[in-house]
Amino acid sequence: MIEFRLNGRPIRLDVDPAERLLDLLRYRLDLTGTKEGCAEGECGACTVYLDDLPVDACLVPAYQAHGREVVTVEASDRRQLEPFLRSGATQCGACTPGVVMTAAWIRDHPDLLETHDLRELMAGNLCRCTGYDGIIDGVESALTAHSVDNADAATESNRSASAPVKPTSAAAVSGGGAVHRPSSLSEALELLDAEPDALPIAGGTDLLVHWPTRLDAHDRTYVDLTGVTSLRAHDWTPNALVLGGLTTYWDVIRDTRARAEFPLLVDAGRQVGAVQIQTRGTWAGNIVNASPAADGVPVLMAYDAVVDLASTDGLESIRLDEFFSGYKEMRMSNRQLITAIRLPRRAYDVAWFDKVGSRAAQAITKVGLAVTRRAEPAEDRWRVVANSVAPTVRRCATVERLLGRREAIGSPRVLAEAFARDVAPIDDIRSTRAYRSTVLSRLLYFGLRKRVDFVT
Ligand SMILES: Cc1cc2nc3c(=O)[nH]c(=O)nc-3n(C[C@H](O)[C@H](O)[C@H](O)COP(=O)(O)OP(=O)(O)OC[C@H]3O[C@@H](n4cnc5c(N)ncnc54)[C@H](O)[C@@H]3O)c2cc1C
Ligand code: FES
Ligand code: FES
Repeated sequence: MIEFRLNGRPIRLDVDPAERLLDLLRYRLDLTGTKEGCAEGECGACTVYLDDLPVDACLVPAYQAHGREVVTVEASDRRQLEPFLRSGATQCGACTPGVVMTAAWIRDHPDLLETHDLRELMAGNLCRCTGYDGIIDGVESALTAHSVDNADAATESNRSASAPVKPTSAAAVSGGGAVHRPSSLSEALELLDAEPDALPIAGGTDLLVHWPTRLDAHDRTYVDLTGVTSLRAHDWTPNALVLGGLTTYWDVIRDTRARAEFPLLVDAGRQVGAVQIQTRGTWAGNIVNASPAADGVPVLMAYDAVVDLASTDGLESIRLDEFFSGYKEMRMSNRQLITAIRLPRRAYDVAWFDKVGSRAAQAITKVGLAVTRRAEPAEDRWRVVANSVAPTVRRCATVERLLGRREAIGSPRVLAEAFARDVAPIDDIRSTRAYRSTVLSRLLYFGLRKRVDFVT
């Protein structure tokens, strides 16, 4: 049994462990304004608000709505559509509810536009019909047309007037799995101890992709971490930034101190999917998913992150650059959870992150690079970390030593030779080995040329 507020009204019902929030809304609560497009968090047609943040309902397990506030497009003021109709932002209409949800969220949080531009915020809403100019024009005129106060009033009154929700009996998905929802870390660790095959679940942005077709995944046992509140927050100590096991990209993106002290976290976080993914995806999930293309891992590694792992046996800490032992292989057991990721607070005089994908947003990295140099003199000041060019995200020790010598570098070729000892790119559907090698050395060369005097 879960209880939550939906469009301002209390809801209590039983949910299947394998049911997504999208299925619950559409098929059991008849709220069909929330659409299903891709089922993989790309198109944004299923955008709803969970505690006032836009999320893709196709990637949210229904039980995670428990104790929370869900808002769907049905709660929005119909007048919000007018600017979109006028600007030609809607044709078949499949994307429109999601577009309206994201646009209304931006309207209600105008401070977002101080750090983000509209296209970045709207990048999680794809449209096959119109091209994006009409949508952006529609959002811009919607923002101008409604003052925030008016919009708030309209949304509130419409929420309370929205049609009563009528639960139906048909469950959309039925699985044989089970979900434990511990409320404390010790409970979570005991559950993993008792059931070593149980899988932790955090934001679900990796685990729930294409969920309806992955029936074997429905039959597993999950330990849902989202009720373990002690894992949620991130914390600043005098010496470190400590990300909790449930800290999301969005938590860090919105933290002005993180922007000042750890800008690469913000740069990389903003390039993970789009806002709907950033509000759900966690840094710990990015590490444990262990993709060579992970964008969170290189920047954490470039800041010398240390991962805290807990189990019923106690706590263990391991440097992130020693954490991966091979493709999808990690130095952690099924009984361990990441409880924190610690980043030492230091001054850096060189720091940047580059991501090359096939488009500006929602792209899987073809080649990525995170570079830092500590400001205080030390033998070992450089960190050069590359992703998508080896079976794991890789710190490039040969390149770091080369840069530490400060010998003149006059072309990307010298760097390419050093990289060849550190990484092993492959040909795959996204790029060729040759492309990856060339781009990697050129990213580093041109990035350095702007920042240090020994590269000319
Ligand atoms: C549309 C889309 C776009 C994306 N774009 C990008 C991108 O651009 N760059 C990128 O790097 N990634 C991207 N991702 C992948 C994903 O969003 C990230 O990897 C995210 O950080 C995963 O975090 P999560 O909390 O959602 O993980 P989940 O899906 O909940 O879990 C992922 C894995 O981590 C494990 N896990 C989670 N938390 C813990 C913990 N505390 N301790 C131990 N194990 C744990 C789970 O068991 C699972 O194996 C994208 C995903 C989607 C759907
Ligand atoms: S259906 Fe496409 S993001 Fe959810
Ligand atoms: S109007 Fe058809 S997908 Fe956007």
